[in-house]
Amino acid sequence: MVIAIDGPAGSGKSTIAKLLAEKFTGRGGQEFTYINSGNLYRAITLACIRAKIDLRDSEKVLEFAKKLNISYKKTEVFLDGEDVTPLLHTDEIDRHAAPLSAIVPVRHIVNDLIRRLAQGRDIVVEGRDMTTVVFPDTPYRFYLDASADSRAKRRFEQGVSNLSLQEIKTTILQRDEIDKNKAEGSLKIADGVRYLDTSDLTIIQVYDKLKVEIDL
Ligand code: DC
Repeated sequence: MVIAIDGPAGSGKSTIAKLLAEKFTGRGGQEFTYINSGNLYRAITLACIRAKIDLRDSEKVLEFAKKLNISYKKTEVFLDGEDVTPLLHTDEIDRHAAPLSAIVPVRHIVNDLIRRLAQGRDIVVEGRDMTTVVFPDTPYRFYLDASADSRAKRRFEQGVSNLSLQEIKTTILQRDEIDKNKAEGSLKIADGVRYLDTSDLTIIQVYDKLKVEIDL
């Protein structure tokens, strides 16, 4: 069973996807794996930065990405066996992951990895194109949205950014533009997906609304 969630940065997808996987694990003896597809793009970005690959050179990025040894265990991303998850949410990676994720063949590497991870497993997966490209046929597809102001506020309150609230809002809007204008895997509200605006909802309220849509 695949529960797929898409939405822009800061819409609450990661928190909700993780919570669904936790709460649904154990029901009926099933174990749900939470997959954060954005973290895979972030891990490739981190590896490029470390290797001093010019992130504007898509040929070089692709050549390098093909050789990377990326794996995903439980909720953590590993690069050559190193758990890099705690290193993925810096301002620098926020900035570079968006253009990197617009490189179409890099998207294919990430999507193949996600499909392999999903084989034989129950998963809750979130990103930008999980409901449109990677798992368009799953009956459990959700789009979480929120206003730019509330998304910026959430990111600011996480305390992981050195930017001001206004700067965070500006970068969020820039990332939205990149996400919505990708040649492949662009962020969009798929036909038949269940849409939820989370701007004024708590995590538990969002969870309760999604839970009733999933007949487990
Ligand atoms: O969800 P996030 O902000 O951690 O994602 C990091 C970057 O990767 C962001 O710029 C959007 C991009 N992304 C994507 O293009 N497709 C996905 N399925 C997930 C993330």
